[in-house]
Amino acid sequence: MDRIAIQGGARLHGEIPISGAKNSAIKLMAASLLTDAPLRLTNMPRLADTRSLGALLKRFGTEIVERDGEAGPETTLHTPEITSAIAPYDLVRKMRASFNVLGPLIARTGHAKVSLPGGCAIGARPVDLHLKALEALGAKIDLHEGYVYAQAPRGLKGAEIRFPFVSVGATEHTLLAAVLAEGETVIHNAACEPEIADLAECLNAMGARVEGAGTPTVRVTGVARLHGATHAVTPDRIEAGTYAVAAAIAGGEVRLTGARAEHIRALLDKLVEAGAEVSDTNDGVRIKRNGARLNAVDLSTDPYPGFATDLQAQFMALMTLAKGESTIRETIFENRFMHAPELMRMGADISVSGGEARVRGVDALEAAPVMATDLRASVSLVIAGLAARGETVVHRVYHLDRGFERLEAKLSACGAQVRRITGDAPEPGSETETED
Ligand code: UD1
Repeated sequence: MDRIAIQGGARLHGEIPISGAKNSAIKLMAASLLTDAPLRLTNMPRLADTRSLGALLKRFGTEIVERDGEAGPETTLHTPEITSAIAPYDLVRKMRASFNVLGPLIARTGHAKVSLPGGCAIGARPVDLHLKALEALGAKIDLHEGYVYAQAPRGLKGAEIRFPFVSVGATEHTLLAAVLAEGETVIHNAACEPEIADLAECLNAMGARVEGAGTPTVRVTGVARLHGATHAVTPDRIEAGTYAVAAAIAGGEVRLTGARAEHIRALLDKLVEAGAEVSDTNDGVRIKRNGARLNAVDLSTDPYPGFATDLQAQFMALMTLAKGESTIRETIFENRFMHAPELMRMGADISVSGGEARVRGVDALEAAPVMATDLRASVSLVIAGLAARGETVVHRVYHLDRGFERLEAKLSACGAQVRRITGDAPEPGSETETED
């Protein structure tokens, strides 16, 4: 298994192009199942997760063509006919968001058998809200031997759906099913993440009628069929936020081209509070830090537009070197501090109690071999490595490859000393985790 080695101490100077959002791309790929015409997605990230979902879609009869277009990488997905509506465990377990094929399969064919995704490294992560919403839309759901068997032989029907709490995946899944349902669907307490607005924009380009995506109330007027379209995947706000934190910890000046500042405002505000300089540019965001030590700041993760849980681990890495004590509260996932013990192996001073971590800034971190436990945790270790003394080696890099495109190349282009070591690492591993 590959590892990543980071020689700490280099300041970052230059430009990092931000890729299309993983969390959008995989839902947009699922949306392609809703039509028998081709869906062309531009600004597509090339990641292990998009490959995993591609492998699953091919089982249903989807033809996938990837090419480098004028505006960067693009993928065309075309499912003239659903040849099988079965999503097996061995493919769903690799990436839990592939569960979101259930809604489109029912909407298109009236039936589906999809493996339940199971828990994952960052928490139990049930899919009860997804299933309740599909039932409200008229699907008959049975659970047997780890699989969801769904039937809606006469099609789905619009419904009023009120989520008890905000769920990104359940909001997206409901949208994916409701666009072809008969009549109107109203989703109350919908998640407002930019990926939802992106999905709605793509669905509308395919002929759907979705209003209010990106707000807590989303209205869908069902249509009989959808057609093909071309859609550009929204920039990855988590990738952008990650490199913003990388620039803040390493020092220097980095331009994140293609990043949308309004999508990471909560993070940028915290970086400014900590002492970094942040400015919006006409093509992205610029992050700058001179040599001065950063201040400790507190934060709590929250649904969008609050501080993203997917940036919590990265910000914790930054706070390990800040002046003072920072309190970090995680409110979205119950087990999302697994990076803390790894950061402590590098000399960080962190105590975790329940959903709260206290980080007391230290003068320096020291390089160490560390283990990635999930996607965002693994990148927080790379970030810590950028500022640590010596060479940090991050094991189990397959987590990172799920969601960060060409990470070593992007950081190296700004002067970081980051390299991939390919081949077997001297530690056992399992590739069954499925996180965000
Ligand atoms: C998505 C993102 C992930 C991000 C998360 C929160 C993708 C592929 N992943 O995950 O990167 O960290 O949003 O911003 O887009 N829950 C239930 N029942 C359900 C659904 C969710 O109890 O049926 C709970 C979850 O366990 C969690 C909370 O709701 O505690 C929020 O989860 P949700 O917003 O659904 O996250 P995901 O869509 O899984």
